[in-house]
Amino acid sequence: MAKIPELLAAWSSAFLRMVGLYPCVWLEFLYLVGSQSNLLSSTRNPTMALIDRLAHRALSKYAYNSWRELRDEVSAMGVHRRGAKAAKNFAWKQGAKLNIGCGSVKNAGFVSVDFCPGVDVRLDLRKPMPIPDGIASMILCEHFLEHLRYPGQAGAFLKECHRILQPGGELYISVPDTRWPLECYVKGDPEYVRQCEVHRWHPEWMDTEMEHINYHFRQQDDGRLDGNFECHRFAYDEKTLVKALRGAGFAEAHGRSFDPAFDAPHRRVGSLFVKAVK
Ligand SMILES: C[S@@+](CC[C@H](N)C(=O)[O-])C[C@H]1O[C@@H](n2cnc3c(N)ncnc32)[C@H](O)[C@@H]1O
Repeated sequence: MAKIPELLAAWSSAFLRMVGLYPCVWLEFLYLVGSQSNLLSSTRNPTMALIDRLAHRALSKYAYNSWRELRDEVSAMGVHRRGAKAAKNFAWKQGAKLNIGCGSVKNAGFVSVDFCPGVDVRLDLRKPMPIPDGIASMILCEHFLEHLRYPGQAGAFLKECHRILQPGGELYISVPDTRWPLECYVKGDPEYVRQCEVHRWHPEWMDTEMEHINYHFRQQDDGRLDGNFECHRFAYDEKTLVKALRGAGFAEAHGRSFDPAFDAPHRRVGSLFVKAVK
């Protein structure tokens, strides 16, 4: 008959496997699948779509959201891994101009960098960028920084921009201007809400000033996941953005006005424009 210490050892080993090993194997499996292709995408892969539907039925709304966040994160790891390889083999030229967090905006003569497909270098910008030190003469970064957590992710990203720039290189950055909606709110000025409607920045169901202010800070509609790259995670005014830039090592950082030579026309209204020099 098995002795009690042996039984205890067997039980604790089984327990450790349940709580430790199996989740690790499962995560590793998801990572390998995600890193090979877009197999984790439920829009491209029918098996994934089926697993997604089953998870949707079986899990509570919150548990289901966690499942999707995990799936998206693992998939993002795969995309970043492939993008990082491509970035290392990219034909970088000294003095390059980069548009980081460009989305669908393409400026002639700029290397486009974003997580979305169809760009020159596809990366998860919450991670270090595999781009050579001191290669860029200029970085343009429009309405991206507010998608990163502050101060950790945002500070790390700005340090990466500083590293990539050559001495004297310039970072032209814009983010949603937060002073404006707050001032309008306090003064009872309807202009911010009017512009939100004109430019369709926010969902149509929003009416009150406070609904718009909340959306400005969070950009989270009902059902949108926290891990989603579209969410806003911090709201800037000039003083805070300048502080973050100086903290990342930039010698100079100050407000500037819209520059039609490179700022996207749809960013003219509602943006805070800052220039920083390495
Ligand atoms: C509001 S759009 C701005 C796009 C463009 N610069 C413009 O002004 O229209 C924010 C962009 O940030 C990108 N983004 C957000 N989080 C990201 C991340 N972690 N890694 C890479 N790109 C990210 C999104 O893919 C999206 O293209």
